[in-house]
Amino acid sequence: METTHFDLVIIGGGPAGYGAALYGASAGLNIALVEKDKVGGTCLHRGCIPAKELLETAAVVRTIAHAEDFGIKVEPIGLEWSTTLARKQAVVDKLAGGVTGLLKNRKVTILDGTATLGAGRTVTVAGGDESVTLTGDAVILAPGSVPRVIPGFEPGGPVVTSDEFFHIPGVPDRAVVIGGGAIGCEFASTLADLGASVTILEALPKILPGCDEDVTRVVLQSFKKKGIDVRTGVAVTGHAPSSSGATTVSFGDGESIETDLVVVSVGRSPFTDGVIAEGTGVRITDRGHIEVDGNYRTGEPSVWAIGDVIATPQLAHVGFAEAICVVKDILGEEAVPVDNSKVPWAIYCQPEVAFAGMSEAAAKEAGIEVVTSKHRFGGNSRAMIIGQTDGLVKIIAEKRPDGSAGKLLGVHMVGPWVTEQLSGGYLAVNWEATADEVAAFIQPHPSLTELFGESVLALTGRSLHG
Ligand code: NAI
Repeated sequence: METTHFDLVIIGGGPAGYGAALYGASAGLNIALVEKDKVGGTCLHRGCIPAKELLETAAVVRTIAHAEDFGIKVEPIGLEWSTTLARKQAVVDKLAGGVTGLLKNRKVTILDGTATLGAGRTVTVAGGDESVTLTGDAVILAPGSVPRVIPGFEPGGPVVTSDEFFHIPGVPDRAVVIGGGAIGCEFASTLADLGASVTILEALPKILPGCDEDVTRVVLQSFKKKGIDVRTGVAVTGHAPSSSGATTVSFGDGESIETDLVVVSVGRSPFTDGVIAEGTGVRITDRGHIEVDGNYRTGEPSVWAIGDVIATPQLAHVGFAEAICVVKDILGEEAVPVDNSKVPWAIYCQPEVAFAGMSEAAAKEAGIEVVTSKHRFGGNSRAMIIGQTDGLVKIIAEKRPDGSAGKLLGVHMVGPWVTEQLSGGYLAVNWEATADEVAAFIQPHPSLTELFGESVLALTGRSLHG
């Protein structure tokens, strides 16, 4: 078997892996990228992209439902699911083609097959067109994650995880979503807007772990308006088939609910099956992650691990950032690791949620005295114009000894297009800027981002509209 040598061999073609390949190739490295399924990974094929595409279908339904408010008469809405799925697939395929094209343009060698890292940075690739062996001066492990499954709720029939969700044959009349995290809330929001009757069953006392309480409250109110029944503090115990194709889910203290679709969204597990052979210094933690140091280095010299397979936020953009950091490390440049406590979070349910930094509760738990500023989209001109006034912006700042607001610790948003508005808040929190400094910047008027500006300005003790 022929052995081919590269500067860098990457296992896994999701955002972390292909991000490392693109960035590394742009820096002049000769790179091989091994992918066993499709370049683009979970994000592009079974996650972020198709989820947001279907959420946009839901947004179109909402727009039409409110068209008469703008004086536009419309016929009753009809949903042609096959067209919905085809549009989603067309977006995914176009992006996948784009990523593959970029990799090829940068002369990255893409290998189809399952890669295993052995001793001496040897990577064997099997199952593709042919078996090959590669060696690399450096190796990056980016094999990603898979949906976590609850015993008794294995995918099949009406039970799906995010892997199967994007191919369901139609919008069900009734859906139960197990797990009220980011994935659960996005799917629940989509299904409810498309006409399903949705129940979320969440084991913890609240949905959207990590979000500020004020933000969660807005999401709960909006979900209630959509008819989503959110049940918290309930564990599911099993399900049994009932009438034609439906199933009855048992949960809590002897309760049950009949449904046509069960979406299991209870987190994702790092995927390492077959990725690491005997004889390397790469270690797996008790929770199944690849163990890395602060610079994403594994226990094997010149082998790094990034993305969902390590214990950092499972977000595509964190994978990209880790990829850049590792490539710089490989090149011997200064590499600043991601500050996981301040990464941008964006959840695209309706209303959208976006935040960076500490929630008020987290800051208080850390023993930090804070001042907060909270402003609602209800008074924002652009929000009124677009007819989407549910939501707020909340800023959490360090309290100075004189009681005034100092460094911004957290920016939390819920409402229209907030995922597109977080960047200013993210920058402020990560720049460790103070309220005074950020308040000096202006926002366009009229705009949704004015609410961020108003909220920060109010922390200076003076305000315009706020
Ligand atoms: P998650 O960890 O965010 O939420 C899972 C939820 O399921 C938790 O609230 C948990 O308490 C609950 N849960 C666990 N076991 C349960 C059980 N047996 N019964 C009922 N509830 C149970 O995981 P999720 O939503 O599956 O997302 C996976 C990963 O993907 C997360 O790390 C998330 O950050 C990321 N992601 C991010 C998105 C975004 O930022 N827009 C979108 C989709 C995923």
